Amino acid sequence: MDNKSFYITTPIYYVNGDPHVGSAYTTVAADVMARYKKTRGYDVYFLTGTDEHGQKVEETAKMKGMTPQEWTDLMAPRFMEMWKALNVKNDDFIRTTQERHKKAVKKILKTVYEKGDIYKGEYEGKYCVSCETFVPENQIVGENCCPDCGKELRMVKEESYFFRMSKYQDALLKHIDEHPDFILPRSRRNEVISFIKQGLQDLSISRNTFEWGIPIEFAPGHITYVWFDALTNYLTAVGYESNPEEFERRWTNGEVVHLLGKDIVRFHAIIWPCMLLSAGEKLPDKVVAHGWWTSEGEKMSKSKGNVIAPLDEVKKYGVDPFRYYLLREVTFGNDGDYSTKGIINRINSDLANDLGNLLNRTLGMYKKYFGEEIVANGQFEEIDLDAQKLYDETLNSVDDTMSRLEFSRALEYIWKFISRMNKYIDETGPWLLAKDETKKERLATIMNMLVYSLEKIAVLVAPYMPESAQKIWNQLGIEKDIEKALLSDVEGWDLLEPGHKLGNPTPIFPRIEVEKEVKEKNPINKDLKIENPITIDDFSKVEIKVVEILEADKVADSDRLLKFKVNDGKNIRQIVSGIAKYYPEYQELVGKKVLGVVNLEPVVLKGELSQGMLLTTEEKKRVKLVEVDSIVKTGSKIK
Ligand code: ME8
Ligand code: MG
Repeated sequence: MDNKSFYITTPIYYVNGDPHVGSAYTTVAADVMARYKKTRGYDVYFLTGTDEHGQKVEETAKMKGMTPQEWTDLMAPRFMEMWKALNVKNDDFIRTTQERHKKAVKKILKTVYEKGDIYKGEYEGKYCVSCETFVPENQIVGENCCPDCGKELRMVKEESYFFRMSKYQDALLKHIDEHPDFILPRSRRNEVISFIKQGLQDLSISRNTFEWGIPIEFAPGHITYVWFDALTNYLTAVGYESNPEEFERRWTNGEVVHLLGKDIVRFHAIIWPCMLLSAGEKLPDKVVAHGWWTSEGEKMSKSKGNVIAPLDEVKKYGVDPFRYYLLREVTFGNDGDYSTKGIINRINSDLANDLGNLLNRTLGMYKKYFGEEIVANGQFEEIDLDAQKLYDETLNSVDDTMSRLEFSRALEYIWKFISRMNKYIDETGPWLLAKDETKKERLATIMNMLVYSLEKIAVLVAPYMPESAQKIWNQLGIEKDIEKALLSDVEGWDLLEPGHKLGNPTPIFPRIEVEKEVKEKNPINKDLKIENPITIDDFSKVEIKVVEILEADKVADSDRLLKFKVNDGKNIRQIVSGIAKYYPEYQELVGKKVLGVVNLEPVVLKGELSQGMLLTTEEKKRVKLVEVDSIVKTGSKIK
């Protein structure tokens, strides 16, 4: 094949948990890019997979009561299934536990070792199991936390083999300097440069205090550091160890693009290129980092329960709108917020209104004015030529932005053309021409312009929304597989022959009611089980009032107790509370209104009279008084 090779990868994901919107984002982005390059005639190879070795996976497996192999065998298919459900068409799925990969890791280790770039030493320092990374002393956050994920660090002290990364510092800087698009976007590039300039340390690349990894031939008892192992996957899959011709075509002479999140830029833009420099292989052409997704404005986390599950979204909105939203909503490289409102707005305005309407209006009018078959058109006029020119410009802009993986900007250009064609309908007014028998030919020209535009638009949006693009073609009566279409197949403005039969128009993107959707997101649990139920009379025995704190003090001889002088609306009383530990600045409580039980029998605690109890909440071992807004009247009863 003479077509130029385009090789695109995602990170290989850790199998300690299920894929979520973050991993889906990178994978869908890579899929869109792969599909786009195909429409441009490239010979594309698209790789994703799973990162299965290392301490984190070993420990997760142990927690689940399985061997690491059993655990990874269970998890890897869940990634494959998810990508299938998102209509991701990867050419290969690599698992680092596969034999082909172990061979490739052995080969690169041997090459680097023989080059004299690996030496034995001892590693003593901090390690983050969650990020699988060594953390230098000066980067530790707080007492003992990882600067990236915030989790607790472990102390590691063991014999280890080191990779002479420091040796490649200057060569790497030079490469970055000479290849302005090597690290994208620019902000990340600058960050990497300044990091390298602080000085590269040699990297510990072996561990010998656990088992789950690839053994190192020249270092009995040691396994390969999981990142050294994982990064090598990009070589494994294109024949590094097994197929020299393929390797030369895909890696050495092809275009190589790595997509990843900003969390792992340093591994890809520093460690990985240094490994390749040492092994004597070409560096990737682009390392492209995207930003971070939050969920309805907050960091996603399992404990908050706000992790976006791609399959739920697909169920609600359909796979294409989900893919479209991910790539349209944020500028690739920036952080973005995933929200119900956001996706619904995109569906209603961009998909239903702009694209959906263009298709519906066009087909509806065509059928009405000419019936089911395409009719011959006449000469193009200036307004037609203008639209044609805009299409040519769109193609150029899309290619330019896509070459830097600026997905949202590419979509903006495509939508500019879609809007132009909607406006074209309004400006040419086919319904007026239809009333005039002498304008039939002009009407045919206009309607054909619209049909041809839609045929082209379908190919442009196909990488993002393959199923919908196919539906557009089918409604235009084109039965071919749009996944095989090239942009060059839809050149020119005489695409469908007279007599070609149009298909049936049906809406592709139904509108969604915002209110309904947002309500459905928080459904009421009608089967809620009430534990230890009480009657309203039981409850009314407890008298709770808003009390105002007038004074706060420590109780002598106690680390635990604070005493408060409070106003309950009628009386001033004293309440003792065991919250001293949580309020070292207890003076700040003076003036606050809180909730107090005022009909408890008085008791004496550590010699202090307590005439009630202040209500508190406890979250994650942090106890807090229940504060009431200052406009609520002191003494108000809680009913
Ligand atoms: O780092 N927003 O695997 P990983 C956007 N195994 N993207 C997100 C995201 C979020 N909130 N959360 C995760 C590893 N990602 C290594 C990689 S490669 C040789 C080894 C995406 O499972 C993003 O692409 O932690 C990020 O880089 C990747 O998931 C990390 O996946
Ligand atoms: Mg991670």
